[in-house]
Amino acid sequence: MDLFSAIDTEPARQRMEQLAADLDRLNYEYYMNDRSLVSDEEFDRMMRELQDLEAQYPELANPLSPTKRVGGEVNKSFRQVEHRFPMLSLGNTYSIEEIEEYEARTRRLLDGTPFSYTCELKYDGVAIGLSYRHGQLRQAVTRGNGTVGDDITTNAKTVATIPLRLQGEYPDDFEVRGEVVYPFAAFEAMNRQRESEGDEPFANPRNAASGSLKLLDSAECARRKLLFCPYFVMAPAGTALPATHSARVDWLSQMGFRVQPFLRECKDIDEIKAYIEHWDRERWQLPFGIDGIVIKVNQVPLWDQLGLTAKSPRWAIAFKFKAERVSTPLESISYQVGRTGIITPVANLRPVWLGGTTVRRATLVNADFIAKMGICVGDSLLIEKGGEIIPKVVGVDTDQRPAGAMPVQYIVRCPECGTPLVRAEGEAGHYCPNADGCHPQIIGRLEHFASRRAMNIDSLGPERLEMLYSAGLVRSVADIYSLRREQLIGLGDEATIQDKSADNLLAAIEASKQVPFERVLFALGLRYVGEVGAKKLALYFKTVDALMAATEEELAQVEDVGQVTARAIYAWFSDANHRQLVERLRAAGLQMQVATVEGDDSLAGAVIVVSGTFEHFSRDEIKADIERHGGKVASSPSSKTTFLLAGAKPGPEKLSKAAKLGIEVIDEAAYLARTRK
Ligand code: IVH
Repeated sequence: MDLFSAIDTEPARQRMEQLAADLDRLNYEYYMNDRSLVSDEEFDRMMRELQDLEAQYPELANPLSPTKRVGGEVNKSFRQVEHRFPMLSLGNTYSIEEIEEYEARTRRLLDGTPFSYTCELKYDGVAIGLSYRHGQLRQAVTRGNGTVGDDITTNAKTVATIPLRLQGEYPDDFEVRGEVVYPFAAFEAMNRQRESEGDEPFANPRNAASGSLKLLDSAECARRKLLFCPYFVMAPAGTALPATHSARVDWLSQMGFRVQPFLRECKDIDEIKAYIEHWDRERWQLPFGIDGIVIKVNQVPLWDQLGLTAKSPRWAIAFKFKAERVSTPLESISYQVGRTGIITPVANLRPVWLGGTTVRRATLVNADFIAKMGICVGDSLLIEKGGEIIPKVVGVDTDQRPAGAMPVQYIVRCPECGTPLVRAEGEAGHYCPNADGCHPQIIGRLEHFASRRAMNIDSLGPERLEMLYSAGLVRSVADIYSLRREQLIGLGDEATIQDKSADNLLAAIEASKQVPFERVLFALGLRYVGEVGAKKLALYFKTVDALMAATEEELAQVEDVGQVTARAIYAWFSDANHRQLVERLRAAGLQMQVATVEGDDSLAGAVIVVSGTFEHFSRDEIKADIERHGGKVASSPSSKTTFLLAGAKPGPEKLSKAAKLGIEVIDEAAYLARTRK
């Protein structure tokens, strides 16, 4: 026996088991029963102790350990898996009459058999299926197209209300379906955080929930505070399950699922209508979003009798709520000037309560939008908010229009600098052309340049920039790189810059010189060139010189760069001031070409044909990636082809040619596995 196997791991194993059991129980009490049995510090201490033990004895770590709740594992990609039972959708309607018809039809089909309905909330989130074996979570899969979904098990384990181990009695082998939702409070807190870090906020909790489950970093998913709402049980034929839907849902609660307590058994259409009316009114009182009500026949044995239509069961139907809409007076219009000079008209509204928040402002998009809506001075506007958090102007409440109201006159001069606005042919927006003299444009460009996703100069927020601008130290982004320590010290009225923060600022500026070319390009803030566009341009042209020398036609060759964008990029680089700016930034030491990324030779000698679209790569990126790993890309399968890399929707011709030649076909996940060991 060697020395190591002689070490007795039994005490560690026992301690780990004890900690896991205690943490599971505390977690359950906290998330299912809203009860804290120990302080946060104590909970964290136990979690850390277990994490440390797992790190020390990886062979003893349980894949369903409560430490998985914290995340940490990085997903390389999300494997596509086939659902054991297809995930059907429901027939749905916005009309009460159709619900009445559905109810009458169901009663007719059941022909005198006694039965009842259940009404429950239709959660507005992401549908997932959780499979359990012997009471342990085995796999979590998104709905996908109903037949094939993404394996998101690692991220699902971080959702506190998804039990990793079941309690009480449960079937040996079954699946629980439900919706992962993003509760409003957590959603808004996360969006505020994103905004403060310069990230785009999510449009609504549903998108955010879906994005969260697809995060590569499971620790980030753990921070998202998602909630799982179960609504359905699926099991292989022969499994003993309660005979009513409501009893099945009760059973889920005994197994340790957090079941929302709003399911009601209804005996007739009047009770169904009362349930719908109640929740249509009260839905914003809930801590999460719902988009309707689901009505099911409660007696499961009757489901077979009712059967399925093409893609949805006849034993259930969804009633969808209409987007909430209110009318409120337009008090005035503000015109905002963006960093690229674009003017955005914004309606200032009489504050109105809508869909859980007070609405005070809504975008009026551009002059065309105002004209199309026919908005007059003194009008009341109709504002809608569906699943969206951002309210939308959907029309004018013409009943409220004052007599003799005149159409809104769009401004002709910049509200900030008075310069006459221009409107380029074919474009809907007006611009202020005074790029170098219009305050919000100058400050906006500086802010954008320094922001986290661009040059990431941490200590250079809006206030500092304003300060440097009014001191005459920074007018253009290139001036940032000429700042000297002695110019900074003592700057500002109240919050003056001290030695330490001057040093920090200079260090952050210095560090920004290492920011890759694609982000430098994004930081320059060209109209229509977002993060993704900048990346594609950088990958395609490789150097700023090649990009500056490109013609409009060449620019339009880049994936996703259309005529309008190509023209805007060309015009930007044709401007002598902009060329001079690039030279100053180059002289300052910024990255003006793509770094040659370290690859490996995992694809050495391979000839690869690419087809379809990919989750982690654009077409250009996947080609560059293959080359970085020593492979060659060919356009169509031949006897020389090593394998066909097929993304989503691959070309059928390439597929059949590959099949004929006996060429191996691999998917994105397999590609990632081969190239990232
Ligand atoms: S029952 C066989 N119940 O709405 C049908 N679905 O269009 C099983 N949903 O795909 C679905 N809340 O994503 C059911 N209480 C609820 C639901 C619900 C939300 C979603 C689900 C489904 C879609 C139906």
